[in-house]
Amino acid sequence: MSDKGNSGGVKVVLLGDSGVGKTCIISRYISNLFEDNVKSTNGASYASKRVDYPKLKKSLILDIWDTAGQEKFKALTKFFYKDAAIVILVYDITRRDSFDNIKNVWYQEVKENGAKDIILGIAGNKSDLYENEEVPETEAREFATSVNAIYALTSAQNNNGIDKLFEEIGESYLNSKMQGNNQDTKDGDNQGKVLKLDAKDAKEKDKEKKKKKGFC
Ligand code: GTP
Repeated sequence: MSDKGNSGGVKVVLLGDSGVGKTCIISRYISNLFEDNVKSTNGASYASKRVDYPKLKKSLILDIWDTAGQEKFKALTKFFYKDAAIVILVYDITRRDSFDNIKNVWYQEVKENGAKDIILGIAGNKSDLYENEEVPETEAREFATSVNAIYALTSAQNNNGIDKLFEEIGESYLNSKMQGNNQDTKDGDNQGKVLKLDAKDAKEKDKEKKKKKGFC
């Protein structure tokens, strides 16, 4: 995974306590790999993936950012999610504290600092360890519904629920774009240009405003 720049695609950021499985979820989604002993993330890194959404006949390039869950990186993490289009909050179903922190810390921070129209997902990871579950799925789903988030039980180890989560989240993003502004997205070969088109539109609008005000 690179830690610099991005491809200009849709920014997706994974947040959550250290050790809940953010890096493993991304490795599984991008490369279909899983490792038992992953080093804790320092700072942040990202990987890109082009994804087709056949139901909507559209594609997107997702720039998926892995952030560090450790407290010492908190200030840095904010920098990564504040302009994200999509945030996925990850907790470990065998660790009650990691879910409580989703509710009381991570979600609150995103609400405060994130984009107003952000698409939110919540992943209850390590579903393969259901015998040690500390957070009932119904409780987590209720919370997700209450904050308008897409919920998924995932296992990076068994490759469960991850593709579906990213699919639902991408579709939700595309639907919200199509509802909000049909011109933001394009079919076929124009994938990944969503943000660039946004920027161009904004520039055009700015020019018009200035003309009206008599600037030149
Ligand atoms: P930080 O980088 O410190 O924020 O942690 P993280 O959230 O990125 O966690 P990471 O992906 O590094 O995973 C932590 C540990 O959990 C590793 O030992 C993984 O092998 C393990 N792990 C991750 N996902 C799963 C899963 O779905 N099931 C099981 N059983 N273990 C998992």
